[in-house]
Amino acid sequence: MRSTLVSNNKFSKLNITPKLLLGAGPSNPNPEVLEAMTQPVVGHLDPTFLGIMDDVHEMLKFAFQTSNPMTLPLSGTGTAGMESCILNVVEPGDTVLGIENGYFGHRMIEVAKRSRANIIPLAFEWGKPVELEVIEEALKNNPSINVVLAVHAETSTGVLNPIKDIADLAHKYDSLIVADTVTSLGGVDLQIDNWNIDLSYSVTQKCLGCPPGLAPVTANQASIEKIERRSVPPNTWYYDLLLLQKTYWGATQRTYHHTAPITMIYGLREGLRLLVEEGIEERIQKHTDNCNTLRKGLEIMGLEMLVPEGNNVSSLTTVKIPEKINDQQLRSSLLTNHNIEISAGLGTLSGQVWRIGLMGENSKRENVFRFLEALEIELKAQGMNVSAKEAINQLG
Ligand SMILES: Cc1ncc(COP(=O)(O)O)c(C=O)c1O
Repeated sequence: MRSTLVSNNKFSKLNITPKLLLGAGPSNPNPEVLEAMTQPVVGHLDPTFLGIMDDVHEMLKFAFQTSNPMTLPLSGTGTAGMESCILNVVEPGDTVLGIENGYFGHRMIEVAKRSRANIIPLAFEWGKPVELEVIEEALKNNPSINVVLAVHAETSTGVLNPIKDIADLAHKYDSLIVADTVTSLGGVDLQIDNWNIDLSYSVTQKCLGCPPGLAPVTANQASIEKIERRSVPPNTWYYDLLLLQKTYWGATQRTYHHTAPITMIYGLREGLRLLVEEGIEERIQKHTDNCNTLRKGLEIMGLEMLVPEGNNVSSLTTVKIPEKINDQQLRSSLLTNHNIEISAGLGTLSGQVWRIGLMGENSKRENVFRFLEALEIELKAQGMNVSAKEAINQLG
């Protein structure tokens, strides 16, 4: 006998209350992106769709500031991009330097361990920038290192790592670099070619103003040559970059690799189109300005930043939770009473900081003010006397 669902009205039509997503991601997609995603679904080898793929390819290169022919959106989230880049370029017998000053640097190391290479983890205090002299020392002392892993914008701490300098060091010691650009692509200055970054992955759900589901990846000639020299194929078929490029994204005669998530690609095309329309420098400046407004506003209200100005990520601000304030209660009342989401601290920073994202579509002055006003109400509810009005007046 077939099983039945007894209650007809248990599953009503979805009706989600909109929230302002000011956490570590996803951020709110641009309305135009959501609209693009309602366009009719066509086949993944339909000429219309192939044209859309060409557009995405061209605009993604612009977003990454690269001319790498191998630049494509993987089907999957940022971690799929991480696994794909690392498991393609690292093979058994390699020596990998994994730089960690936060949760995602740590995750890169964990992923690399699955490649059966020799992994040298190099940990710095979370919330502090990495020290270039220590990285250089590690490279000097371990000449077999041939791949370096590093995060550009560490979302767990809000620290912006000097990825160009790390890339320079990696190359000085004959190594390739894999850079996590998840929280920087489309919002923070990132120049793949000028900075000589060999391989990089990102996401759609942060500064590109799209929902989660795709992982843009770019790989230069040096990294492709290393992948081509592998003695064994990477331990992944779905995320085999050379195969994907050969059959689908880079091919003149595209053939089936897997069924592309059509609707997601429509959304990404629109997110990228909006970036092109706005201009990359304007987008970067907007993120910097709104981040500075948020930081100043919070400081006027008496809160303290985790990361000093200059080392901070402009799309993600980490602020210390004031003493005697209940972290969980505050975040949950922001969500219930104001429909605003912010993120908790991750890993060792759990319970110590809040992470406030102003990414892509959400990087707006009015969102900063809406958040400060809601924060005032909820901090006051827990007995802390603060004034958002005063902060907003001072910010002008
Ligand atoms: C820096 C960084 N790397 C990797 C990831 C993993 O991405 P995803 O959660 O989309 O798999 C995240 C997610 O927030 C991130 O912030």
